[in-house]
Amino acid sequence: MNKDVILTGIRANNDLHIGNYFGALLPIIDMAKSRASEYEINLFVPDLHSFTTPIDHSQLQAQIMNNLRIFVAAGLPLDNDSIHIYRQSYIPAHSEMTWILDCFTGFGEMGRMTQFKDRMQKYAPNVLNAIDSNLPYIRNTRFNVGLFNYPVLMASDILLYGAKYVPVGDDQSQHLEFTRDIAERMNNQFGDLFVVPESVAKQHEFFGKDQGLRIKDLVEPTKKMSKSDESGRGIIFLGDSPDDAAKKIMSATTDSEPVVGSPDMKDRPGPANLLQILKLLKPDAPDVSQMNYKQFKELTAGAVSDFLTDFHTKLAGVDEQAILNKLSSDEKLMNEKADETLIKVQKAVGLRP
Ligand code: TYM
Repeated sequence: MNKDVILTGIRANNDLHIGNYFGALLPIIDMAKSRASEYEINLFVPDLHSFTTPIDHSQLQAQIMNNLRIFVAAGLPLDNDSIHIYRQSYIPAHSEMTWILDCFTGFGEMGRMTQFKDRMQKYAPNVLNAIDSNLPYIRNTRFNVGLFNYPVLMASDILLYGAKYVPVGDDQSQHLEFTRDIAERMNNQFGDLFVVPESVAKQHEFFGKDQGLRIKDLVEPTKKMSKSDESGRGIIFLGDSPDDAAKKIMSATTDSEPVVGSPDMKDRPGPANLLQILKLLKPDAPDVSQMNYKQFKELTAGAVSDFLTDFHTKLAGVDEQAILNKLSSDEKLMNEKADETLIKVQKAVGLRP
C-alpha cells in the first residue's frame, strides 16, 4: 500500500530565519525522525519560487545548498528511503503541471491572495491603476507574473506527489486552501486525478498545534518576519552570529508597560512575539509575567544565542557530499513519481491519447 505523503518546501531567496525553522522545517523534521516508517516525507527546495521577489542571482546556487545543509543540521535523516530531498527545477513536471493548472485557475482567484496583495502594495502600489497609461509601471518586474502565479506552482508541488499533509506557516494557509480548491475542481471535471490535501484545521491537528505559526518582525511586530524583507534588522536569521541575534532581541520593539504581563498578539504584538519566540526556543523557560522588559529580553536573547551556537556547530558538521548523493538518487525517483501524475493529467485534459 502507498504511504501517505507529508511534504513541504522552503525557498532559497535568502538565509532561513526562525519563522521558517519553527513554522515549517521543525514540524516535518519531527515527523521524519519519528514517523518515517508510516509516511513518505518530501522536503524540497522550491528554487523556481525563489525569485518571485528580487534576489541576487549569483548567490542562488549557494543559497540552495545552504537550505539543504540547514535541513540536515536541523536533524533530517538522509539514510532513509522514505525521506526525500530534491530541487523543484530538477523535476520539469512541476512547471508543466503549472501551465495546465493555470488554465483552470481564475484570474480573480489569484488576485485576492493576501501574500500577492501585500507584496504588490510593497513593491508597486500604483501598478494596477497605471496599467493602461504608464509604461514604466507596466514593466516593473518587481511586480511580476511569477509572483501572481506563485500559488499555482505551489499547488503543482503538492498535487504531483499526492501529499496529504503540508506543514506551513500561517501565511501559506490560503495557498493550501487554493490547492484543495483546484484539486477538487479538477477531480469534479475529470474524475479522480488528485489526492486532496487535508484542510488547514486538520493539518494543525495532525502536527499537534491549534493554529499556524506566525512569528512577527522584531522591529515592526505587526508584520510577519519575512526573508524577503531587505533591512534584516527585525529578523533572526539562522546564519546570524549569536551576538548579533542577541542584539536584535535587545532592541526589539515592545511597549511602555512596566512588566511583561500576559501580552496578546492583537493588542501588544511586540512583547507577545518575543514571548512566542522564547517559548519555542526554551519550552521550560520560567514565568516571565512579572519581569520588566530588560530582564525578559535578556532571557530571550540568551535563549536565541544558545540556540544559534548549537545550530552552527551542527551546521559545521554537515556532510555536503552525502547531500549531493541523496539529491541525485531522489531527484531521479521524484521525476518518475511526478511524471506518473503528470501523464494522468495530460491524458485527462486530452494532451495524450
Ligand atoms: P518560504 O520559503 O517563504 O517559507 C517557508 C516556510 O516558512 C513559513 N514561514 C513562517 N512561519 C512562521 N512565521 C513566519 N514569520 C514565517 N515566515 C515564513 C512559511 O509559511 C513556509 O511554510 N510558498 C512556500 C514555499 C513552497 C511550498 C510549496 C510550501 C513552495 N511550494 C509546496 C509547501 C508546499 C513559502 O512560503 O516558502
